[in-house]
Amino acid sequence: MIGDWLDIGWLDEIPLRGARTVPVEGGEEIAVFRTGDNRVFALVNRCPHKGGPLAQGIVHGHSVACPLHNWNIALATGEAQGSDKGCTPAIPVKVDAGRVLICRAGALKAAA
Ligand code: FES
Repeated sequence: MIGDWLDIGWLDEIPLRGARTVPVEGGEEIAVFRTGDNRVFALVNRCPHKGGPLAQGIVHGHSVACPLHNWNIALATGEAQGSDKGCTPAIPVKVDAGRVLICRAGALKAAA
């Protein structure tokens, strides 16, 4: 359902170049990233390579380096960069009055 947003907390609670995780009932955890230029992105917290927890990776630019084998994943699309192939689902996310909102339908679909 478009327009159905889930409030997951204050933007300021996510460290710059960091991430926090959000559990989704009945599905996979979502990783919400904050970049150095203060943008937010949300991906399923599972690397497309072997399932590494992307929320524990290093955010650089608009990518995250997986903590397990250092694949670079584009935050906007969830696509592996360079010669690596794979994609983790991306979830629509926005910031409104300092609160971070993720698309409920997107989160459920991605986590299904
Ligand atoms: S599990 Fe992420 S790079 Fe291997």
